[in-house]
Amino acid sequence: MAAPEEHSSSTEAPQPALEEEEAKTFKDLGVTDVLCEACDQLGWTKPTKIQIEAIPLALEGRDIIGLAETGSGKTGAFALPILNALLETPQRLFALVLTPTRELAFQISEQFEALGSSIGVQSAVIVGGIDSMSQSLALAKKPHIIIATPGRLIDHLENTKGFNLRALKYLVMDEADRILNMDFETEVDKILKVIPRDRKTFLFSATMTKKVQKLQRAALKNPVKCAVSSKYQTVEKLQQYYIFIPSKFKDTYLVYILNELAGNSFMIFCSTCNNTQRTALLLRNLGFTAIPLHGQMSQSKRLGSLNKFKAKARSILLATDVASRGLDIPHVDVVVNFDIPTHSKDYIHRVGRTARAGRSGKAITFVTQYDVELFQRIEHLIGKKLPVFPTQDDEVMMLTERVTEAQRFARMELREHGEKKKRAREDAEDNDDTEGAIGVRNKVAGGRMKKRKGR
Ligand SMILES: Nc1ncnc2c1ncn2[C@@H]1O[C@H](COP(=O)(O)OP(=O)(O)OP(=O)(O)O)[C@@H](O)[C@H]1O
Ligand SMILES: [Mg+2]
Repeated sequence: MAAPEEHSSSTEAPQPALEEEEAKTFKDLGVTDVLCEACDQLGWTKPTKIQIEAIPLALEGRDIIGLAETGSGKTGAFALPILNALLETPQRLFALVLTPTRELAFQISEQFEALGSSIGVQSAVIVGGIDSMSQSLALAKKPHIIIATPGRLIDHLENTKGFNLRALKYLVMDEADRILNMDFETEVDKILKVIPRDRKTFLFSATMTKKVQKLQRAALKNPVKCAVSSKYQTVEKLQQYYIFIPSKFKDTYLVYILNELAGNSFMIFCSTCNNTQRTALLLRNLGFTAIPLHGQMSQSKRLGSLNKFKAKARSILLATDVASRGLDIPHVDVVVNFDIPTHSKDYIHRVGRTARAGRSGKAITFVTQYDVELFQRIEHLIGKKLPVFPTQDDEVMMLTERVTEAQRFARMELREHGEKKKRAREDAEDNDDTEGAIGVRNKVAGGRMKKRKGR
């Protein structure tokens, strides 16, 4: 593959044409009237930078590598040209969007439906963890757009009679650098073998792999690179901080921060399913409305958690990196990296869950004695030195006793939960959320800690 043609308005370069560009409308980009109306209805008054860059080129029929910061409207940048082309030449099984996670697949499908409802677009979500039969039925109806995680799509390509993608016109890899990573290698290769070589391909992400070899696997043809951010950029309106604390006080500092910033919506990232679950239990025991989302939960529980958080019925979502990419929950105010991400790129995606679409937000990263090197790597990657988040250590220490008690309950619940799960292994739908652990929060004296006055 030849190096992609650059079509970049990177923020590092001066942008004399910016004002002129900002005045552009979706119609100016070549988007057809009915889709312009759909954008209008979503409140998209004007296209975002990546949409301005990518949509006209996509409508010309070019393959695209789209790089733009988190929350900048990349979904619209690939969905609109696909819907536009679909209107011109209506066809079933027209486009395939690959995503790394199930929740993201549902979200992208919602976006396609929102933009395409007036033109009768049908989409199907094909992801693991849910009933295969109903998916086979959905595929038998030949939707226009399929949004899938790679593994389950392969299952259907291999086992669902009458289903194939031999007429596919568009392939999108959202979070492309992740999709092109090692762990999806076999699946992606299999998919690429059974879709036409003669198709359009769009790769989008807020972070892009430097390795041309990896990009080559996507079999792009004469692609153009639309980059409106540098390779590893975080959003301008995001205030980023770190706190340096001994590992053993992490829980106490977390509770302190949640109290200090009470009234906000939080996404808290942990490194393992177990710690996500444990921390959710701990916070609940202290009266916080916290809910977990991780890979050891059943899919219905995962979606249930996410929906409760989205609907603001819970103010704290505890998650593993399964929630770090692509999820668009506009009301998230604060992202906490409770466990530091081991891959620095994940930092960019995690903190990008807040400060989306021009809003502001905060990110706080916990750095313990074991994390210094990883933290330096993150600072190096984003090209910034982060300030310390101010804390009153004596006030933090006043929380220790209650936190210790809540930790003890959380450990007990986790153990009980594990045993229950063992007993009910066949019934996988049960017990893999902590919602069942009711009443426990009241065991810790006082319930939710009151915010101290003056803050
Ligand atoms: N032209 C627009 N005007 C206003 N809002 C928009 C526009 N395009 C998209 N949005 C909104 O911006 C938000 C972020 O969009 P989207 O999820 O596509 O971001 P993204 O660039 O894919 O981010 P990430 O890298 O995190 O996946 C969504 O809520 C979307 O509805
Ligand atoms: Mg996205």
